[in-house]
Amino acid sequence: MHIDRIEQVFEHLDADAEAEENPVVEGMIEAHEEFMGKDPGDEACDRFNIAAGQKSEHYEIATYGNLIPMADQLGMDDAADTLEETLREEQDELDTLSEMGEAFDYGKLEASG
Ligand SMILES: [Fe+2]
Repeated sequence: MHIDRIEQVFEHLDADAEAEENPVVEGMIEAHEEFMGKDPGDEACDRFNIAAGQKSEHYEIATYGNLIPMADQLGMDDAADTLEETLREEQDELDTLSEMGEAFDYGKLEASG
């Protein structure tokens, strides 16, 4: 859904959308692989993934939070509206992950070693 919206924005701009590697995302993937390579156990994997999801959402929120005022100032109202819709969903997802992180039972980590 988010990719579809980004493609819509590019259509508004009459430009071609092209996927690119992102060093921040690549770094997050590397960190995930490194952590999982330590065979941390299911509970620690769950907690790591919650935190990784939060980091990803913060990064996306910062990105959309910068693109929206740019689109607004350039008079690209449709693009700004489209991006705002995605930003709201990213913020909702971050809230969900934050609640999961706060509710995480650290006793299970100790129990699993
Ligand atoms: Fe997201």
